[in-house]
Amino acid sequence: MLDPRTKNPAYARSPHPLLTFTGSKIVVALFCLLVLTSMCLHQGGFYRGESTADLLHSLTVLAAIIFVVLRSKQAEEALCRAQAQLAHVTRVTTLGELAASIAHEVNQPLAAIVSNGEACRNWLSRPQPNLVEAHQALQRIIASAHRASEITRHVWALSRKCDPLRQDESLNDIVRETLGLLRCELAHHKINPTIELGAIAGQVSADRVQLQQVIINLIINACQAMDTVGAAQRALLIRTWVKDNEAVLEVTDQGPGIAADVLPRLFTPFFTTKEKGLGMGLCICRSIIDFHDGRIWATSTAGQGSSFVFALPIRVAIQPPGNPP
Ligand SMILES: Nc1ncnc2c1ncn2[C@@H]1O[C@H](COP(=O)(O)OP(=O)(O)OP(=O)(O)O)[C@@H](O)[C@H]1O
Ligand SMILES: [Mg+2]
Repeated sequence: MLDPRTKNPAYARSPHPLLTFTGSKIVVALFCLLVLTSMCLHQGGFYRGESTADLLHSLTVLAAIIFVVLRSKQAEEALCRAQAQLAHVTRVTTLGELAASIAHEVNQPLAAIVSNGEACRNWLSRPQPNLVEAHQALQRIIASAHRASEITRHVWALSRKCDPLRQDESLNDIVRETLGLLRCELAHHKINPTIELGAIAGQVSADRVQLQQVIINLIINACQAMDTVGAAQRALLIRTWVKDNEAVLEVTDQGPGIAADVLPRLFTPFFTTKEKGLGMGLCICRSIIDFHDGRIWATSTAGQGSSFVFALPIRVAIQPPGNPP
């Protein structure tokens, strides 16, 4: 995740070699260099009207300015690295919480592989082997194996720690992939979400893993909010659409809602109303969305649920047929 103020995509990479050299050493080196240069110039008669003291004073001011600039640049880099670390830690923590669901998710295709493998063996061991049925069972085995490897690939991608990589991505594909990971978690909360993926032309320049992290945070918050209401009342709506060159995602729940005075504090670090909450989920969501040059906000009517929405600039605006540009 990037420090939202800098919008510098290289935030998590190693700092420039110049910045690994401490600011004070650089200043001393520059200062000595400037003093030597000015002394040479002075000796050579270039400065007629200025005293050496004036010159040294100017150089001291210049060195001080360089020092302050370098120091603030270093602090900025350190902040960016700390934010990236935090995003990674919270992602891994979330994955830990989802471990049971993920294990269950991987187990499903594995069970399908075993049962289709047995079926295939039975079709082949008949006196008259049924090759068509055996072939179909093999196809299902291959599809299930692909599904299992997809899940492990997604989990690995979420747990890995590397620099953000922004590429052209379909918001809808990212949502689908994320929902695949959360299927068991949703079932555990007895929530059957309604999915309306209307952002067909929603190509965004995004780091896939980071956007998944945002969507996971929003959906888990919605699930947790609805733990307090009866199972029959739980309804989760996940929608995407494209409007005004932005791809928009909205997660709406039927939880208890959020009081008007709490709404402005939701995205601040460590704000939580949960006993075991860290209060970092939404704060991280906001910095990720800022990094993607987007916007994120929440609306709610206490007692009537909440909506969390983010909007990202779209890369290729393909208007659906019939819609004027
Ligand atoms: N869908 C929601 N409905 C009601 N309140 C919500 C919802 N989403 C977030 N909140 C409120 O916003 C607070 C901050 O959410 P955030 O995700 O940042 O932290 P958290 O869920 O408390 O902890 P964690 O860091 O583990 O995610 C929550 O504690 C909760 O009070
Ligand atoms: Mg949360």
